[in-house]
Amino acid sequence: MSDGIDHQSLPFVSSVEWHALLGSTNDRARELARTSAALPALVVADRQTAGRGRGANRWWASAGALTFSLLINPERHGIVPSRQGLLAIATGLAVIDAVRETTGLSARLKWPNDVLLDGKKLAGVLIEAVGPERWIVGVGANVENRLGAAPPEIRARAVTLAEAPGAGKAAVLESCLTAFGRRIAQIASGDPELIGFARSRCALTGVQVKVVDGNRTIAGECHGLAEDGALLLYADGATTAMTAGSVERLDQPSA
Ligand code: BTN
Repeated sequence: MSDGIDHQSLPFVSSVEWHALLGSTNDRARELARTSAALPALVVADRQTAGRGRGANRWWASAGALTFSLLINPERHGIVPSRQGLLAIATGLAVIDAVRETTGLSARLKWPNDVLLDGKKLAGVLIEAVGPERWIVGVGANVENRLGAAPPEIRARAVTLAEAPGAGKAAVLESCLTAFGRRIAQIASGDPELIGFARSRCALTGVQVKVVDGNRTIAGECHGLAEDGALLLYADGATTAMTAGSVERLDQPSA
């Protein structure tokens, strides 16, 4: 037990590790991928000392933040390789679903997998493949933690649910796991509601953005999301589908 959560009753997962302190839940999930741990496996940490973000970024989190990783075999959930690109979006939507269910608040998706509330970052997702049959889905969300101790650049662009009624870590985690199971089932079945909902929650549609993918940088207007989850970028009379990359809004470069 931790934070009043009964591990045995957590939805979607078949095994749970709950740590008071860990380097990174994604790193622990990577270790688990080499064992016979029952999947889907959940790794939660109350605190991380080396939380990782996308690219070379660190993930800052203070006490009360929700930080966890899921180790899954996508094929076992019927997710064929051509649709694995939707996993990041489905995870972001699961967080959005959980925020709606626990607090009633409407969060938005910043492609590929950030969750924003009032234009500020509420949660981030880090997906890593350990081979075709083991994927790690890491989620960091500001739930019960306060941002007062955060570095100034994070304080300026992050938001927390700490003041929102109903937003306990346990409730958000449980809701998120249930929603994740539902969302990945939509990937497998090709349910059009998945991309339809992602489009309706896309924080970038109609916004001038710059997308950096490796050494390719394209600036243009975001024209929403393609069926496979790619970001549609319109520039110089042509539309480019970006399947990976990080996005900067050109109207507010720090967001
Ligand atoms: C990002 O926004 O760049 C992604 C942040 C992902 C952070 C989470 S916290 C739990 C899991 N373990 C990690 O080391 N990172 C992810």
